[in-house]
Amino acid sequence: MIALASDHAGLPLKKEIMTMLDEMGLAYRDYGTYTDASCDYAAYAQRAAKAVVSGECDRGILCCGTGVGISLAANKVRGIRCACVSDCYSAKMTRKHNDANMLAMGARVVGADLGRMIAEIFLTTDFEGGRHQRRVDQIMAIEAGEDLTAGLEP
Ligand code: RB5
Repeated sequence: MIALASDHAGLPLKKEIMTMLDEMGLAYRDYGTYTDASCDYAAYAQRAAKAVVSGECDRGILCCGTGVGISLAANKVRGIRCACVSDCYSAKMTRKHNDANMLAMGARVVGADLGRMIAEIFLTTDFEGGRHQRRVDQIMAIEAGEDLTAGLEP
């Protein structure tokens, strides 16, 4: 199950992603917004992010104007690693190396076709694990309040 959310600016791209998911036969839940009336993205990001963290959804895709605001909001939810991406290479690598569980894109940054490609790569690429698991663990340790800086050179 894929969690989707957007604000008004991201709505057209989210609709493209819905069409793509239908074509791929992948199930999704749309956590809003549902109209093009101007709205604030944070609550929608939080609702979709909570669905991913709870296990109700496996991954999430978020859209706003730039992808930035909605990704920043999602990353405030514990357990979320949301990557704001506008190219195919980063989409692949954020799965392989960062195990990102949410993707954010900007409808005013990427077109419909590129947005679909990025989303497809994000959904079909596996995490590599290995040394990258250690690095992802370190990201999550920062979230848990750990200080990683003790061993660093001055
Ligand atoms: C809305 O105008 C816009 O600010 C929002 O969609 C997003 O781009 C913020 O980061």
